[in-house]
Amino acid sequence: MVTKTEPESSDFDRDTALKAFDDTKAGVKGLVDAGIAKIPPIFLHSRPNAASVQSTPVIPTVDLQGVDGDPNLRRRVIWQVNDACRRWGFFQVINHGIPTTLLNKMMEGVKGFHELETEVKKGFYTRDYSKTLTYNCNFDFYQSPAVNWRDTVSCVMAPRPPNPKELPQVCGETMVDYSTQVMLLARRLFVLLSEALGLNPSYLNDIGCSEGLMFFGHYYPACPEPDLTMGISSHSDSSFLTVLLQDQIGGLQVQCDNHWVDVEPNTSALVINVGDLLQLISNDEFKSSQHRVLTKFIGPRVSVACFLRQQLPPENSRVYGPVKELVSEENPPVFRKTAVKEFVKYYYAKGLNGISALEHFRL
Ligand code: OGA
Ligand code: NI
Repeated sequence: MVTKTEPESSDFDRDTALKAFDDTKAGVKGLVDAGIAKIPPIFLHSRPNAASVQSTPVIPTVDLQGVDGDPNLRRRVIWQVNDACRRWGFFQVINHGIPTTLLNKMMEGVKGFHELETEVKKGFYTRDYSKTLTYNCNFDFYQSPAVNWRDTVSCVMAPRPPNPKELPQVCGETMVDYSTQVMLLARRLFVLLSEALGLNPSYLNDIGCSEGLMFFGHYYPACPEPDLTMGISSHSDSSFLTVLLQDQIGGLQVQCDNHWVDVEPNTSALVINVGDLLQLISNDEFKSSQHRVLTKFIGPRVSVACFLRQQLPPENSRVYGPVKELVSEENPPVFRKTAVKEFVKYYYAKGLNGISALEHFRL
């Protein structure tokens, strides 16, 4: 008689492995702390495109110094932003007005959170997004075909910022200060983006593009087998706009004309990218590009992504479609209208699988 100790179906194996890992509540960092030399199978990705990186083109850098004073300079910046949003959906901004000390403090805060004692950090581990703060490994952990080598702490910071006392002490106050600064920058950027689209300068702020902010503090531990997994699979963001702070480790890439291009780390810059909702309202004029993060043997890599979009009721029931000023008989709407919550529900249920959620809303 043969006694089976292994379950028969490989799917059953995978589900069990997912659950067992999730139950550790220690994230990817827990594996690395335990000194694993091989990555568990749930993290295995196929990376056929990894080699197709073109290093020459560099995503544009926009200098915001003096942009609110000199009209000629302002016109040039709007031109640069416009070109970047159409061609890349990505650019970096320098002289953005957020003090370097605050950027450094924010990175230290996120790193500090992920490096808290495991027992303390476990108290925050959850997939219940009605909690003020969530910490877990991959929001799409149970949906995606392969788990990403990344842990994330996240929190809705606007329009109703949480009391810092509800947040972990190691990063709470800084999260509130940093998010306030990001909101101010975002409002300035939405003015430039409105003008780039030929709209009234306050248009995008007026319709609520800068109404909500979601904060994601990512931690990508050093990986013993970096070629077998991914930090973040190819995806586009569910936001109107994303403001990203990354450290010096690198690994972020954006897809342009079927090539993967590195988004070079620059500690005085913030990376800005167009999200799906801005592509939708701009009727395909601005591009929400696919991007990903490669894993590395070195690390940890820390990044902070702030998504400008509504998340909670009542703001998330706002409905968006291509803005009427950008459509005409010759240029009809290419997307149907959607409430933010409907869009996000679809986006979350799909998970990050390299296919844009926007295609589901295309007419
Ligand atoms: C994201 C993202 C990139 C990074 O959070 O959507 O793409 O560098 N992050 O962490
Ligand atoms: Ni992203």
